Amino acid sequence: MSERVGDWAPAEFERHGRELLAMVREHFESVREVPVTVPRTSAELMDALRAPLPEAGEDFARVLADTRDRVLPHVVHWNHPSFHAYFANSASFPGVLAETLTAAMNVNAMLWKSGPAASALERVVLDWVAELVGYPAGADSVLVNGASLATLYALAAARDAALGDDVRVNGVPAGATLRVYTSEQAHSSVDKAAITLGIGQANVVRLPVDEHYRLRPEVLEEAIRRDLAAGAVPVAVVATVGTTSVGAADPVAPVAEVCARHGVWLHVDAAFGGFWRLAPSLTDAVEDLSPADSLVVNPHKCLYVPMEATVLHCRRRGALARTFRLVPEYLTSHQDADTVDFMDLSPQLGRSFRALKLWWVIRSFGRAGLARRLENSVGQARWLRASVERHPDWHCPVTSLYPLVCLRFEPAALRGRRAEVDALNAAVVEEVNASGSAFVSHAVVEEGYVIRVSIGNIHTTHEDVERLWELLTAVAARLSPAPAASPAA
Ligand SMILES: Cc1ncc(COP(=O)(O)O)c(C=O)c1O
Repeated sequence: MSERVGDWAPAEFERHGRELLAMVREHFESVREVPVTVPRTSAELMDALRAPLPEAGEDFARVLADTRDRVLPHVVHWNHPSFHAYFANSASFPGVLAETLTAAMNVNAMLWKSGPAASALERVVLDWVAELVGYPAGADSVLVNGASLATLYALAAARDAALGDDVRVNGVPAGATLRVYTSEQAHSSVDKAAITLGIGQANVVRLPVDEHYRLRPEVLEEAIRRDLAAGAVPVAVVATVGTTSVGAADPVAPVAEVCARHGVWLHVDAAFGGFWRLAPSLTDAVEDLSPADSLVVNPHKCLYVPMEATVLHCRRRGALARTFRLVPEYLTSHQDADTVDFMDLSPQLGRSFRALKLWWVIRSFGRAGLARRLENSVGQARWLRASVERHPDWHCPVTSLYPLVCLRFEPAALRGRRAEVDALNAAVVEEVNASGSAFVSHAVVEEGYVIRVSIGNIHTTHEDVERLWELLTAVAARLSPAPAASPAA
């Protein structure tokens, strides 16, 4: 179409930007009429979207219209007030706008020199996050894309701390058995890190949990002692604060004591659980994260910051750089006391200006505003739990401190028939999700299959949670076998 070179004129950018913002505004003004998901097969989606590579540039109005008509209707709306699957997260508007400016400036924050404002702001927001989650000031810290990679980087530093500098040059010594200890409830990113680091998935020791799904310090102690006696090298313990399936929290202080006794690195995965201490009603109840040698928290999970934004803190100063600092000639730069070249703290070289969206979100809401919003979610979850417990056919087989509600429908006709109750609950999830009115996920706990409702989206109101409960109970009642279908029938 166009023969021109160069970019759009700035005025053209602004015009399209306004059109885009109007589209986003319309979406959120009527978001409750938008299905959270519309089930489509992958073939249907590919048929709708597959197209030949465009030879000539297209009019942006057409690209935007196609996005509105052919892409957005198939999106799973993670930013929908009735999205309750996985961990409900939300991109707040200040964060969304920050992403636009970040892209417009296109800063690369690999070195202080290559992105001084971005690097300085990264230091500022990392300090703020440490203060928000109660981690000691002065740690080495870095923004990364997700908790999985943060855990990988932390365990790489832990491995090198356990084995010494030689690992960097020669790799893991032949015959060495390295061990990472965690609970059977820990996230799969721990295994992936072990696989990637050459520790091996078989050397992730997944320990049994107590009745509240928490790591048991005495079992951990025993496992480390046994391995030491057998000549293995304990590299790290990974404790979780806010487990993925049920929102349990490992007891950090006693686990830290075990680690200290054996000189083992403690990594705490608080990707989900890290920020809830801000909610006033939870402040005294949540685990103290300060004993962790390294800590991961996800502002993109609970702090209203758009994907991708994870914080890795490490109080063992210099440990991350010891593993990752490697400076080719073209990247040499002047260092002073305030300078951080963030490329030294992870394997990532080119890095986007992630700090801006944290800065905008934290400044826009303030500590008190964040606390109020988190408390609001906690209250919504309490209401849902209480409603579940009042219903004769529903209960919560496991209770989390956090706004993660695991519930199970067990009508009298099926009481004690686990497989059938599991299938019924799975059918409820399927039907609720197919309705488009809400999106939930599931977990399997001691008792069986549970419907898992994560609450935490900034747009979710009490009425949304009431509607979800009405939907769940209505669908369950419809799918439930009539009382006549009880064993006697
Ligand atoms: C406890 C926990 N840790 C780590 C992760 C991985 O997070 P990310 O998607 O940021 O890599 C998750 C994801 O849900 C999680 O629940």
